[in-house]
Amino acid sequence: MTLSRRQLFTATGGAAVAVAAGGGLTACSDDLARTSTTAGRAATSVVYPFRGIRHQAGITAPASAAGLVMGLDVRVEDRAELATTLASLSASIEQVMSGEAYEVRDGGFPPLDTGIVEPGPTGTSVIVGVGDSLFDDRFGLADRRPIELQPMPKFANDSLVRPERSHGDLSIVVNADSSEAAVHALRQILRAHRGTLVPRWMREGFNQLRPDAGPGRAAGRNLLGFLDGTANPDLSDDALTDAFLWVQDGDGQPDWAVGGTYQAIRVIRMMVEFWDRTRLNEQEAIFFRRRDSGAPLGKELESDEPDFGGSFDSHIARANPRTPGSERNLMLRRGFNYAGGLDDNDQLDQGLLFTSYQRSLVDGFVTVQRRLDGEALEEYIRPLGGGFFFVPPAPQGDEHLFARLLA
Ligand code: HEM
Repeated sequence: MTLSRRQLFTATGGAAVAVAAGGGLTACSDDLARTSTTAGRAATSVVYPFRGIRHQAGITAPASAAGLVMGLDVRVEDRAELATTLASLSASIEQVMSGEAYEVRDGGFPPLDTGIVEPGPTGTSVIVGVGDSLFDDRFGLADRRPIELQPMPKFANDSLVRPERSHGDLSIVVNADSSEAAVHALRQILRAHRGTLVPRWMREGFNQLRPDAGPGRAAGRNLLGFLDGTANPDLSDDALTDAFLWVQDGDGQPDWAVGGTYQAIRVIRMMVEFWDRTRLNEQEAIFFRRRDSGAPLGKELESDEPDFGGSFDSHIARANPRTPGSERNLMLRRGFNYAGGLDDNDQLDQGLLFTSYQRSLVDGFVTVQRRLDGEALEEYIRPLGGGFFFVPPAPQGDEHLFARLLA
């Protein structure tokens, strides 16, 4: 399938030009990632396709400079109203990702566009997930629940995790080239669903992007100062992504879920004042990587394979021990840093909006987090909230994003 000009174009100095002119660009996530790696950064912004690709574009798109994560609840009476609301949500997301101008209305009405950014490409991709609670007894969807979808349980270091900053019927993750574009996307979505989509919790984030990110090279640094994302699996390998990232036919999942993926979101506070007083050697031992180069201890390059020498205490050895069978626990990590001012004790409220995607929630996030329980890093971090969601595949033809779930 070929992406249309409307689906994928870049703006150079304000003029929109087609990248996919003449076709030949197949609409798989792999091509999407390759195309946008070169085009998606500061000087040029891309429009990410919303439909006609297999998976929601933002999952495998290159890391974004800005974004946000949110959990929401739906407040509607019945299945019919839910269907109307979700179809409308899908349309709102498609419009804001397209970068196209909104209809201009008479001054007697509120404008349809909040006007925060000019029309045109903003590198905006919105990822929507559905939470376990959407499948409760309100809408008759219980038999369509993805088989592993469950409320996020409490893990060992979760004493500060609160229900009011966790879970939700839906999750929205916005990726964009600027904070303004991310806020614009959120405002455009929420203004159209006042009273029916009710935000539960939210965090805004950012990334300082390295221009040459790719397999074996992290997209940027987290707020502990370490390169983060280095060992993410190579997304250009379709066999690999089918194996660990996308739900497949034959997984025993409901039909609508094939091509989707499980999403784990964790808002993780970092005790940065404490970290900043910790010796560098200790910091590096915690991760088993050098802070400056990102290389595993005892190795030269960031992309070198670690040699744990039989000691599996560090963050990366627990997360991925590279022992027989541990490839079943691979996940795609996509995160944002956040800096949220001061807490009630005037300590810096900073951390990581951790997000991971995996074909199996149990084999991926849950297994890895259980292995991390008790790690040395725990002294320096406190999860605050988040949730487990399932991200449906991208819509095809004229259908909306939730059509197959509700059919
Ligand atoms: C604030 C919390 C966290 C921080 C600061 C952090 C930081 C890091 C760093 C610096 C690396 C090494 C570079 C890289 O490969 O990306 C890493 C690797 C990794 N982390 Fe985390 N991480 C955090 C939480 C988590 C959580 C909650 C999980 C999953 C449950 C996780 C799973 C992983 C995995 C799978 C790797 C790759 C290991 C490998 O294949 O070598 N991390 N993390």
